[in-house]
Amino acid sequence: MRSHFCGQLDEHMAGITVTLCGWVQRRRDLGGLIFIGLRDHHGVVQAVIEPDNQQAFASGEQLRNEFCIRLTGLVRLRPDSQRNEAMATGAVEVLVDELEILNVAAPLPLLMSDDDSEETRLRYRYLDLRRDRMQRNLRLRTRLTRALRQYLDSHDFQDLETPILTRATPEGARDYLVPSRVHPGSFYALPQSPQLFKQLLIMGGMDRYYQIARCFRDEDLRADRQPEFTQLDMELAFVDEQDVRATAEALIRHTFREVLDADLGSFPVMSWHEAMQRYGSDKPDLRNPLELISIDALVTDSEFKVFAGPAADPAGRVAALRAPGAASYSRKQIDDLEALAKKHAAKGLAWMKINRAQDGAAGVQSPIAKFFSDAQLNAIQTAVAAETGDLLLFGAGPESQVNQFMGAVRLQLGRDLDLVEPGWKPLWVVDFPMFEYDQDSARLYALHHPFTAPDCSLEQMQQAPEQALSKAYDMVLNGAEIGGGSIRIHRPDMQQAVFDLLGIAAEEAQERFGFLLEALKYGCPPLGGIAFGIDRIAALMAGEASIRDVIAFPKTTTAACPLTQAPSQIDQAQLDELSLQVNAGAE
Ligand code: AMO
Ligand code: AMP
Repeated sequence: MRSHFCGQLDEHMAGITVTLCGWVQRRRDLGGLIFIGLRDHHGVVQAVIEPDNQQAFASGEQLRNEFCIRLTGLVRLRPDSQRNEAMATGAVEVLVDELEILNVAAPLPLLMSDDDSEETRLRYRYLDLRRDRMQRNLRLRTRLTRALRQYLDSHDFQDLETPILTRATPEGARDYLVPSRVHPGSFYALPQSPQLFKQLLIMGGMDRYYQIARCFRDEDLRADRQPEFTQLDMELAFVDEQDVRATAEALIRHTFREVLDADLGSFPVMSWHEAMQRYGSDKPDLRNPLELISIDALVTDSEFKVFAGPAADPAGRVAALRAPGAASYSRKQIDDLEALAKKHAAKGLAWMKINRAQDGAAGVQSPIAKFFSDAQLNAIQTAVAAETGDLLLFGAGPESQVNQFMGAVRLQLGRDLDLVEPGWKPLWVVDFPMFEYDQDSARLYALHHPFTAPDCSLEQMQQAPEQALSKAYDMVLNGAEIGGGSIRIHRPDMQQAVFDLLGIAAEEAQERFGFLLEALKYGCPPLGGIAFGIDRIAALMAGEASIRDVIAFPKTTTAACPLTQAPSQIDQAQLDELSLQVNAGAE
């Protein structure tokens, strides 16, 4: 139907006749001429209809935005005064000879710009997707998956599928369930990841597996979380942590080079503990130079109970953050930071302004200064290397809470003070604790998942489970966790011991994971792997804040699809067939 793409035309093509297909981006009538911005997936070009071409002109007069048309015409250079440098095709225009309306478009229900609400964009996604931004994002996503496949295909990975209708695999979220008609009262679970199947594939003699896999998790949604999302899932036989990390790093390096021509530089390896201490986060954004500094030892004896308590408590922390040049912050700006901290469960956010560093304690302005001796104030300033004009912020309380809110304040200050360096800052976070103790339920949880191997003997793990580290690793890029994996348990006694520590009774373990425990009995090789969040990588590459903008048909933050109106109610006949009854309250 067409000879060229709209976005392809340039001055070298002046003088040739082209046939183009696309949509009317806009129509303008000027000085007796009709100008059309014609758009296809390649870009936009200007077409012009002169009035002496009566037939085309008559059709041209009917055109509205998003009419789908086909035109034939001569490419010609625009007069110098009319060249549009902002447009890739701005040096030329197409003088229309023939114009055919392929399809009309009703008046548009949205602006087709960033001003549309997300609800509207998702409701009319097929129109929203025509926009340049979405076209670019989805093409980038295609290049991303292509580069990943390219690398893996040339490194002897097998691309294998695993079931979607399956049993629950615990990745820490709620399951999406599918009722079985054939087995009334029984349910399949959609996979939260292919975790157990990929382990079984390695037990089945596959040496290197990968899959671009859809995962389903019923969890609270955010900008970087969707109920269904896509992983690049990988698993390898006969590997240790270094082997998996080296392979994964080479893959991601290759991919950024292919897609963005970007060199990711070196991947520093940081322990989870160090990341939490320095950045208050297990996915630190290393583009932000600010760091948390523990001052517990300096304030144990202070009269400020808010600090002294946590400082003396082994499970507590008092952390300081130096905001360079922020002593000029207004009361309101500080209050805003405190409000942010409180959103992350802080009780408060103490502060000191360093008005004159050379005056030591006397140069400090703060409502809490009176609680500290001069020596303490001096020691705090030395510890954080405070300079005149700095604002110091303090968090005190249970360690994990302080890390969380001070980590959030750190990120905010990095943005507010314009400290975030451009470019890519990847790292590995390793040496995660094996378990996390939950106060409320008084039990241990697996920090990664229950199939992750500990970095110690079975006996050591059983003696001090909360001290045990795991062989898990996360890849972090610019403050986003883009991938996570681990070396797996490959012995049934170790797997059983982990289930025991997690409080999964032998009977329950047998009922839920009996097939895995059984498979482990038959010569399971040492194995490990990783899964990358493709949506997150695509969003980072595209410079988008939300993964919804790199997914063709995402769900809203309430897990709904405004386009198809999913989820929807089903009729009684279908319920009956599935032996289901809906609680009246749920209607
Ligand atoms: P994990 O749960 O860490 O590991 O997931 C791996 C990566 O998937 C991405 N991700 C998500 N992306 C979008 N929306 C979500 N709701 C979401 N949840 C996770 C993240 C994350 O790093 N089976 C293990 C992997 C393994 O051990 O090999 C797993 O799924 O980028
Ligand atoms: P208060 O004694 O509660 O009036 O608090 C005095 C200052 O300490 C205020 O600026 C509070 O924001 C701050 N503050 C209170 N609790 C904490 C905490 N847990 N960590 C850091 N600062 C706090």
